[in-house]
Amino acid sequence: MNFTKISALILFQILLLHSLSQASEILYDIYPFIRVYKNGTIQRFIGQGYAPPSTDPTNKVHSKDIKLSRNLNLSARIYLPRYPISPHKLPLLIYFHGGGFFTESAFSPTYHNYLNSLVAKARVIAVSVNYRLAPEYPLPIAYEDSWLALKWTFSHFKGNGNEPWLKKYADFGHVYLGGDSAGGNLAHQMAIRIGLENPDPGIELSGMFLNCPFFLGKKAIGNESENAYAEALLEKLWLYAYPNSSGLDDPLVNPGMDPSLKNLGCKRVLVYVAGNDLLRFRGRFYKQELEKSGWNGKAKVVEVKGEDHVFNLAKPKSSKAVEMLKMLAYFLNS
Ligand SMILES: *[C@@H]1O[C@H](CO)[C@@H](O)[C@H](O)[C@H]1NC(C)=O
Ligand SMILES: *[C@@H]1O[C@H](CO)[C@@H](O)[C@H](O)[C@H]1NC(C)=O
Ligand SMILES: *[C@@H]1O[C@H](CO)[C@@H](O)[C@H](O)[C@H]1NC(C)=O
Ligand SMILES: *[C@@H]1O[C@H](CO)[C@@H](O)[C@H](O)[C@H]1NC(C)=O
Repeated sequence: MNFTKISALILFQILLLHSLSQASEILYDIYPFIRVYKNGTIQRFIGQGYAPPSTDPTNKVHSKDIKLSRNLNLSARIYLPRYPISPHKLPLLIYFHGGGFFTESAFSPTYHNYLNSLVAKARVIAVSVNYRLAPEYPLPIAYEDSWLALKWTFSHFKGNGNEPWLKKYADFGHVYLGGDSAGGNLAHQMAIRIGLENPDPGIELSGMFLNCPFFLGKKAIGNESENAYAEALLEKLWLYAYPNSSGLDDPLVNPGMDPSLKNLGCKRVLVYVAGNDLLRFRGRFYKQELEKSGWNGKAKVVEVKGEDHVFNLAKPKSSKAVEMLKMLAYFLNS
């Protein structure tokens, strides 16, 4: 064995030991969402950017941040399209961002840009909820935060409340929920809760859209078992975000196990699924289960072929994303 070979071997062993010691310091790893070390260090790999509220230079959508609870550090970003004219009111959208319950925020460039384009195109007033994230705030905290934000928004019905944009411009006869991925799960749960305990029975939801919603189940459906790696990642997200859940068949993540499904407090549901996304099977299953439950409403699934999970956020200028934005704008105005 010559010198080069020996040093290569030593180097290899050092690297191996290093990666083993790194691995032994990791509590769990759900890359690219999150890596949590035993010493308490948390690394997030996506969704960490910050975009300030603004008047968008291109579409002139205005936005501002509102603290909903100082104790809970719960906030929301509100969006208003250009040239709102009181007393003409605008449909109201309450939006829940995605990110696997672990990453992203209502203030990240991805969601700030997305809400700006949606609000400009649909001419709605939007409340984008900045719920708190796991693992610092494990589920069900995000559900409770979302519910507080929804109740706060509803408290502006009939000119009440303190937020002038909502008082002046929100049409509580046209309220919509929306969300993508984990945010789709949150939106769905909010609609269930409205069906069970509407904080203001004078308000009815006009519709809800879910983009690649995050649902799971113990029993594989469709082709889920063919992609064990991606399926395991999705399952890890849920199990680590909600250590106290009852598992993959918890009604909060498997609508098929939810005895309250028929109570969904919304009569029109639009579900987007992406043709290359493993979650597409759950999006279709969601519609089936809604229909089976005896729910009194209409659900529609749109599949966008050849695209991946939340492709419209990753590639907002692509023709399919532009088409989807147009469809959503139409949905929010019909
Ligand atoms: C925790 O462990 C990781 C990985 O070894 C290290 O990068 C980080 O600096 C440590 N943090 C603290 C607070 O010790
Ligand atoms: C409060 O929330 C904001 C926005 O998510 C975050 O940047 C900030 O660090 C939080 N503050 C505390 C004290 O947790
Ligand atoms: C499931 O997988 C099979 C073979 O891998 C494929 O032919 C089929 O189109 C897939 N079904 C769906 C709904 O994607
Ligand atoms: C899980 O539930 C137990 C018992 O109800 C409770 O003591 C604990 O704080 C919960 N853990 C989390 C992370 O919520």
